[in-house]
Amino acid sequence: MDALENILTRKSVREFTNRPIKEEDVKTILHAAMSGPSCVNARDWSFLVTKKNDILQKMAEANGKPAQPLKKAQLGILVLGDLERAFKPAPDYWIIDGSIAAQNMILAAHALGIGSVWLGTYPQMERVNNLQKLFNLPETVIPHSIIAFGYPDEDSYALAKGKGFYEEDRVHIDRW
Ligand SMILES: Cc1cc2nc3c(=O)[nH]c(=O)nc-3n(C[C@H](O)[C@H](O)[C@H](O)COP(=O)(O)O)c2cc1C
Repeated sequence: MDALENILTRKSVREFTNRPIKEEDVKTILHAAMSGPSCVNARDWSFLVTKKNDILQKMAEANGKPAQPLKKAQLGILVLGDLERAFKPAPDYWIIDGSIAAQNMILAAHALGIGSVWLGTYPQMERVNNLQKLFNLPETVIPHSIIAFGYPDEDSYALAKGKGFYEEDRVHIDRW
């Protein structure tokens, strides 16, 4: 799959099979996360990775009802912002850096045939606080998002509608 096909065919996957994800694929996904741009190359993220079902269940509970897909996932990666590493004059760039890492993981997984869905955490502070407590995180380490991964359940994958359609009216050439 080339890069353009990868971007244009990605869609969120919320139903997964029991097929486990190989460790080398987890490594590739994390490598992709760490290959995106970050403000002043701060690399102000880290990743809490789990394949353990009991931990996936707890993460799902901590991240509210829309995080239910995590309960059937084979892998969950919590993207964390690291404020100690963030660009001091404008530390909020950590949010953008975390988003890029998250999307890179989703695209890398798609290239490997692994489905995923982004589960929003930050800036929903109840979810942020729940996850901070669950994993006993330092104050300067902020939960950003959770990505749930697994091989797509074929039936629900076929039904899922890709939403990456082109909308002409979103594009403004030369002036608003
Ligand atoms: C910031 C963000 C938060 C999201 N949170 C959730 C979520 O909590 N649960 C969920 O099932 N999907 C979540 N999604 C996935 C979106 O619902 C999905 O990307 C959107 O409906 C478009 O569908 P597609 O990804 O298949 O193109 C989130 C996506 C983003 C970017």
